[in-house]
This record gives sequence, structure tokens and C-alpha cells, in this order.
Amino acid sequence: MDKIHELVEKILKEESLIYFVLSNIRKKDPEMYDKVTIRPVILKDKKVYQFTYNYQKKVNHENLKEEEMIEKVMTLFEQFKQGQIFTNEADYQILISKKFKVKILKKPPTKEATNLEHNRKKKYILSEGKPNPFLIRLGVMNEKGKVLAKKFDKFRQINRFLEMVEDIMPYLNKKEKRVNIIDFGCGKSYLTFALYHYLVEVSKLNVNIIGLDLKKDVIRDCNEIAKDLGYEDLKFMIGDIEHFTGVDKVDMVVTLHACDTATDAALTKAIEWDAEVILSVPCCQHELFRQIHNDVMKPILKHGILKERMSAIVTDSIRANILEIMGYQTQILEFIDMEHTPKNLLIRAVKTNTVSCESIEEYKKLKAFLGVDPYFERALGDRLYEKLK
Ligand SMILES: C[S@@+](CC[C@H](N)C(=O)[O-])C[C@H]1O[C@@H](n2cnc3c(N)ncnc32)[C@H](O)[C@@H]1O
Repeated sequence: MDKIHELVEKILKEESLIYFVLSNIRKKDPEMYDKVTIRPVILKDKKVYQFTYNYQKKVNHENLKEEEMIEKVMTLFEQFKQGQIFTNEADYQILISKKFKVKILKKPPTKEATNLEHNRKKKYILSEGKPNPFLIRLGVMNEKGKVLAKKFDKFRQINRFLEMVEDIMPYLNKKEKRVNIIDFGCGKSYLTFALYHYLVEVSKLNVNIIGLDLKKDVIRDCNEIAKDLGYEDLKFMIGDIEHFTGVDKVDMVVTLHACDTATDAALTKAIEWDAEVILSVPCCQHELFRQIHNDVMKPILKHGILKERMSAIVTDSIRANILEIMGYQTQILEFIDMEHTPKNLLIRAVKTNTVSCESIEEYKKLKAFLGVDPYFERALGDRLYEKLK
């Protein structure tokens, strides 16, 4: 087994790992996982190793730091007879005999790392000093590319948002097909213009984006800016998220800072369309504030401010959990630093169609514990109830 340990250490040192697969379990047990994959992912700007345990009817995830990862991998190698390690340099096939004799075969690499999987260095996607027509038109930078002092937070927010978009590119990268995107509650649309710029002008994708908002004057201004910039496939419409019926199929739903249950209405639409990607920054989670009730948690809930924070956390946990139940792999990420805004969480969900039974049980227990009846559940109706049965 020392040979495996050495190889894993070397791969981690070289930062060349794409992913591992462990298969052919020694002791078959229907209650146990029978395959494990391990891949590096970026969480909160830090690299961790995501272990995915595949059971017959569910998958579990565990994220470990590098130090903990090697030990875990070695324990797992004792349970499996076969391993494959894909790196940028080579593919390795590992065969372990009944008596733990190890054979390692090395072949040329067959896999390529995606952005989700490699250790991204911190960098801004849009840089100061480089004049960019859409940022100039929106008043974020001047003609020389200098970011205006009062718009620096906006500039950082736009860049942070584009980092999140960069990470989901493998899910959108369908050059042969037009990608339909909707931004619900787009407001002044700094982020919608940034999204269009990044996808169309930088990534050369064939994209159609609609921004939707209740405010007539804002929509009028946004359409004017899109026209000035020559952004032909970016349109803004007036409307209410909940009642929007303007399109049949959407591949990506964005909803940033849409208040209270408007976020849930947007997530519901995304699920109805089977959208492949959802990026959502929730805001003002009031709904559950009025509902949460739990005697054990009285010391927290009796303080208004703590109850408010608790309600926001519970609301977003419920959103993430329901998305998992509906077949999305979901992460909650820090959007921008706390000192800039308290609305700093982003829910990133990608459609995998893998439903974990654990998420269903977790959701039922949390709901019962806190006595809540969330709008998101009611809005999804039978689609969700069927899964909860
Ligand atoms: C705080 S702004 C966010 C704007 C932009 N998405 C951003 O993050 O910079 C929220 C926007 O959502 C819009 N909004 C709220 N509820 C909505 C609904 N039910 N339907 C459509 N737009 C809605 C508001 O009019 C407002 O412009």
C-alpha cells in the first residue's frame, strides 16, 4: 500500500489531480457504498477534496482538507480492489489483490481539468485599467478604464459574480445550441450586462438573455443601454416572476437579491423548466420569521435580531435542501465579503438528476422541528410532494 501512498502524495504535491474513482469493493453490502469518487473543488475560495459515496439508492458527499484527505483515501483503498486516478500528467490504474499486493499501471492522460476542478488562483476577470464599453456605459469605470471610487464595491461584486459563472461554464458550454438565460428581478442589471459580456463577448457562446423586473422605468433604461451597446440578444421585460410565461425552456436561471419569496418563485420556475444551472442570491427572508416556532430554541428566537438571522439561515437551508430533492447538486457560497453587505450568500445549483434520500429525510425533520410551511414547497406542489411521499 506504500506505493499508493507515495503516488497520491506526489499527485497532490504536483497539483495535477483531476479525479479518483475507487471501485470493485471487497465486501459487498447493500447498505454500504460501492463506489467512491474524489475530486478537488473550490469552496469559499479554498480548495477541498469532495468525496462522493455512491450507494445503491443515494449519494453522500464529504469535503476534506488536503491533510485529512490522504488518510481517508488510504483507508478507502483498503476497502476496494480497484482504483483509477486521472491527472493532468497521466491516468493511473491501481489493482489491489486479495492479499493487498499492489499493481499500478500508468497510461497517457485522457481527462482534462475543468475550472471547477483545478486550484484557481485569485484573479479578477474584469480588470481595472482596461476600458470596457459596458462598464463605461453603466458608469462603473471612466473612458480610461479607471473604476470610480463610489462604484468599486459594484466592480468587485461584478467580478465575484463572474467567478461564479466561470465555474458553471462546463454546464453551459454547448456551442451547437443556443443557451437561454433569464435574470429574475434584474433591477438596474449591472450583473445581467456583465453576464452577457462574459458569455457572448469573452466566451463566444450563443446566448439569449432576458432580464425581468416589475419596474417599468428601469426596464426601459436597460433596453436602451443594451441597444447602445449592440447587445442584440439581451432583452428586458416588465413582469412579475411568479406569473412569467414568456418562454418555454430556460437553461440557466439567475436571481440576485430578489426580495423574500420572489426568490422562491424564481427557483420554482427554474425547476419547472428543468434549468441546468441556477445562481441565486436571496434577500430579505421574511416568510419564515413569522412561522418559526420551537421551544428548545427559545433562547435564540426570543431575540428579534437572532430570530431574523436564524430565519434567513433556515430559509436558505430549506431552499438548498429542496433543490437537492429536485435533483440539483447545490452549494451555498459566499458571494462578497460580509463588510459590504449582509446579503452575501449565493446558492449555486446544477442539475444532476441525482436525488439523495438523505435530503428528503433531512427536510422533513427540519420542517417538523421548526413548525414551518415554506412558500417554496407550496409553489412546487405535487412536483415536490411526490418525492416526499
Ligand atoms: C434589490 S434589487 C436587485 C437587482 C439586481 N438583481 C442586483 O442584484 O443588483 C431587486 C429587484 O427585484 C425586483 N423584484 C422584486 N420582486 C419581483 C417580482 N416578483 N417580479 C419581478 N421583479 C421583482 C425589484 O423590482 C428590484 O428591481
